[in-house]
Amino acid sequence: MFKLPDLPYAYEALEPTVSADTLHFHHDKHHAAYVNALNGLLPEGDKRPLEAVIREAGPGKVFNNAAQAWNHAFFWDAMTPDKPAPGAELSAAIAEAFGDLAGLKDKFVAEGVGHFGSGWVWLAVEGGALKVLSTHDADDTLTKPGVTPLLVCDLWEHAYYLDYQNNRKGFLEAWFDALPNWSLADRQFAAAKGQGAVWAYPEPA
Ligand code: FE2
Repeated sequence: MFKLPDLPYAYEALEPTVSADTLHFHHDKHHAAYVNALNGLLPEGDKRPLEAVIREAGPGKVFNNAAQAWNHAFFWDAMTPDKPAPGAELSAAIAEAFGDLAGLKDKFVAEGVGHFGSGWVWLAVEGGALKVLSTHDADDTLTKPGVTPLLVCDLWEHAYYLDYQNNRKGFLEAWFDALPNWSLADRQFAAAKGQGAVWAYPEPA
């Protein structure tokens, strides 16, 4: 049985960029529904980590609910009210790939705005190089060998409709300016180079 992880901050902590109302619906209803559905689909006593469930699932309900459980938990950790800055090594990689943080923001927002329908926009590293990519619906980076996610933002309308209505671009711009957890991105960037462990969903009970 997988547990719904608590938010790593108070429901009000991300205001005004993301409201407490949105976090209550998004975490307590949407994310909880994916975790509950997944638990109902897995055989009794299945102790595999969520990452293994996702990689072994193949297309269908198990994959969709498992990947959405993982993506949302990573998304919560990819945000913080603390406004950290990227570390030196990640900053150098951002400069190399995008010119500067503003260049990365332009690419990240454009990728998210251009993504048709629901999904996720990611900052990821592959072969030491940073890239911005998007995935459809529940799809994630775990099924892409050699790709390590550094940050993610949810493009499903439930992530922003209460606060921004249909203005996905406004949401993404405000999100990028205020909420990325660059400390998580630093750790993931180091882990992709073999320094430390990559982020993982809490083990099943
Ligand atoms: Fe979501």
